Amino acid sequence: MPNPLKTCNFTDLEKNPTLSKIKILVTGGAGFIGSHVVRRLVNNYPDYHVVNLDKLTYAGNLANLRDIEHKPNYQFVKADIVDAAAMQQLFTEHDFQFVVHLAAESHVDRSISNPIEFVMTNVVGTVNLLNAARHAWKDRMDGRRFYHVSTDEVYGSLGDEGMFTETTAYDPHSPYSASKASSDHFVRAYHDTYGLPVVISNCSNNYGSYHFPEKLIPLAINNIVNSRPIPVYGAGENVRDWLWVEDHARAIDVILHTGKNGETYNIGGHNEWKNIDLIRLLCRILDKKLNRNTGDSEKLITFVKDRAGHDLRYAIDATKLKNELGWMPSLQFEEGLEKTVDWYLANQEWLNQVTSGDYKNYYDSQYTKR
Ligand code: NAD
Ligand code: TYD
Repeated sequence: MPNPLKTCNFTDLEKNPTLSKIKILVTGGAGFIGSHVVRRLVNNYPDYHVVNLDKLTYAGNLANLRDIEHKPNYQFVKADIVDAAAMQQLFTEHDFQFVVHLAAESHVDRSISNPIEFVMTNVVGTVNLLNAARHAWKDRMDGRRFYHVSTDEVYGSLGDEGMFTETTAYDPHSPYSASKASSDHFVRAYHDTYGLPVVISNCSNNYGSYHFPEKLIPLAINNIVNSRPIPVYGAGENVRDWLWVEDHARAIDVILHTGKNGETYNIGGHNEWKNIDLIRLLCRILDKKLNRNTGDSEKLITFVKDRAGHDLRYAIDATKLKNELGWMPSLQFEEGLEKTVDWYLANQEWLNQVTSGDYKNYYDSQYTKR
């Protein structure tokens, strides 16, 4: 299969003489997935100028980008996408060819306690960016692209059978997924109404380095290492389809450069795990790494009250992305999980930094009464 990135000839770019050096805006680039996307774009495209815009919420961390922050093709801008005037101003200052929009409130549990924050950032913030792009790109849309990064959670919950395809009807259940579904609809509406060149991808659960330890995998690793209880919601029967974050960043790269405007692409790992089986696997990996007796870490598993509205199963059918753009996941899960565990063990300083301050308050309010 030819490498789609090598066959990309940027004919649209040639059609638009106002574009010389390619400027890319990445929003949310200091977060988990965003930092991997920024790193990939900065390292693989030295001719691009990458502007990383981030509000630096609790989930944003410039330490995620230490290895590339000195590069001449990288720039950081601290701003809030909810600030419409700031977004308009940014698009006046920079002639962006591409926008890769990842900034979001991303944690389902936080969306249950504070839904408004999710409406503001995920819906209003996205519409502000769409407006800024629409005004700045008016009459010169050729070769430009607004790439909206979304989630499989917009499709709702599966039973034991079936997978989400790009045509599955939206059926979100959490305030998080409802806000992402809404933002996806706005992105499509701007394509259909104003002709904005957009592309959307909906990806399954990611795992890997720089993942904030409020999400299942890094939280479990941190708790196992520190011999603290591992909170498993309900009976641990819920199923997620896990994808290595660097495979997601590569998919975003491929779709950004070779996807078709107006299209949606599902991205997934073909890698379904029940939460309880995943946690047991993590325990076995960490028993070995920490020289514990087999079974020691499993004793930390603690079943706690289920999440409200907890989606049972997610599974992505990524056939379209494979057939049309040639992308496939590169890593087997066991290998990726072991790499991830190794990264956390080698980066205790990063983990200590992100779990200091407000993290303890969050953790106590989320778990002590469960
Ligand atoms: P994250 O929470 O780790 O990072 C989000 C980033 O957005 C942070 O750096 C934060 O500071 C920034 N941000 C938040 N509000 C902002 C605002 N108002 N203005 C500017 N910046 C703001 O999230 P993530 O897990 O890296 O997810 C990134 C994107 O990918 C999200 O859109 C999410 O919906 C989507 N996604 C995530 C997953 C996953 O498994 N994590 C899977 C599929 C899709
Ligand atoms: P999470 O990492 O929050 O991702 P999402 O809810 O977006 O899929 O949760 C993954 C799964 O793990 C989900 O079924 C909820 C469950 N979970 C727990 O059992 N315990 C926890 O402490 C957390 C954070 C999640």
